[in-house]
Amino acid sequence: MSFTFARTHTCIASPKRANSSGRNFGVVFSQPPSAASRGLISLSRPVFKTILGFRVRPSDLRRIALMSEIVELRNGERLVVLTVEPPLGKYADKVGCWRDVRDDLLGGAFVDQLFTPYFIGEIDGEVVGSLSYYVATDRRGVGVIEFVATDENHRNKGIASILMKSAIERFLEDEGQALYLCTTNPIAGHLYERHGFTYHVGDGMRYLAQGAEAFDRERWVHQGEATVRDAHWGDLPALSALYNHPEPGWLLKDPLTESFAETRYESHFVKLLRRLEEGRGGFVVQENPTRVLVGAAAFERGQTFYDQHVAEMSFRVIPAYASAACELLERAIRKAGDIGVRTLQVSIAACDEDMAALAGTAGFAQEARLKDRLRVDDGWMDVLTYSRTVNGDVPPYRPIDDYYGTRKTWQHARVGE
Ligand SMILES: CC(C)(COP(=O)(O)OP(=O)(O)OC[C@H]1O[C@@H](n2cnc3c(N)ncnc32)[C@H](O)[C@@H]1OP(=O)(O)O)[C@@H](O)C(=O)NCCC(=O)NCCS
Repeated sequence: MSFTFARTHTCIASPKRANSSGRNFGVVFSQPPSAASRGLISLSRPVFKTILGFRVRPSDLRRIALMSEIVELRNGERLVVLTVEPPLGKYADKVGCWRDVRDDLLGGAFVDQLFTPYFIGEIDGEVVGSLSYYVATDRRGVGVIEFVATDENHRNKGIASILMKSAIERFLEDEGQALYLCTTNPIAGHLYERHGFTYHVGDGMRYLAQGAEAFDRERWVHQGEATVRDAHWGDLPALSALYNHPEPGWLLKDPLTESFAETRYESHFVKLLRRLEEGRGGFVVQENPTRVLVGAAAFERGQTFYDQHVAEMSFRVIPAYASAACELLERAIRKAGDIGVRTLQVSIAACDEDMAALAGTAGFAQEARLKDRLRVDDGWMDVLTYSRTVNGDVPPYRPIDDYYGTRKTWQHARVGE
């Protein structure tokens, strides 16, 4: 027996008819958080049972599982709203994602660390819009909205707005507190403002859940001793919060990722962590007992023959944990030593004396002052290079004949050397 379950059993709903949870229109609703973390398509068990009375083929089951709700758009078209979690299967090439991690993330490789539901709108079986948010799988209080897009032929029909509403509701179901995003598109900015986002840092915006108005006052204070560990993919949202907070207001926010002053920070972490996976450096974070990330330090060694023993380092620590910065930096220094880095260096804007002081606590000292390196408003600012020796004697990381232009062994033999 084959039938179109969605048409038979799914209510048609307009967004105005949403109940308080807003999800009770369709046949299949989002899973509770405990069940949602294994990269499955959202499917609630009770609803699943109600359909078991029917003889449904597995292929139909999958189709039903994808069904979330149907919403009537203002022009009368029906939008099917799906909530899909990695592995995204056939949706993987229809949604946005960072290129550097696309296959892994959408294929479900990060589900233990990152919970990344995608909210997808379909009309007549065609994907016409999608967006996603990212939270740590085991810490869902802080998230980042990403990849908001509606197909050009379907814009201004209310699709992104409907998907955003679904995403926020799902986030709140998991007791989410703060959702971050950024945009340079005024239409998107308007969409976000309509959904309660307000401008935060630079072109970044933030949504705070009802009851989370004291988020900043409560998050960025000292709450017990912090411990240092290696960063992982699940740190993406918390790092966005850490780097998109106005304090500390260092001008060179994160030189490794080219993040400056008020510039945003999210894909930066993705790109950097991916590069560092190849053994080019390290990334450590500092977490307090309430599991808030209060500090981060990353280093990346030079990739050329001449700078292979020098690594550039970036770090950020919230002011309340400045006294713990030394421990964070020391860990990064040890890790740099482990991969044969001889010298670590940090670039610091001359105005950021507090940053220089923190570097000083971990044995960094000013080695150079580069005149007028930073454009600041109408003027120029010096950049200071702070450095510290990690290891006295290190083996080469790159063999000399790795490089184009060096005489190879067989050539040495031919010229009789
Ligand atoms: C931004 C974008 C996602 C909006 O998608 P959409 O499905 O057209 O949005 P909606 O129809 O839900 O409209 C949302 C709001 O924007 C308004 N809007 C949409 N298109 C508009 C347009 N061309 N001009 C003016 N306002 C517009 C709508 O009126 C609505 O406002 P309202 O709630 O006050 O009525 C879409 O334009 C897009 O994909 N842009 C390119 C990708 C992009 O920039 N994404 C954002 C990345 S941060």
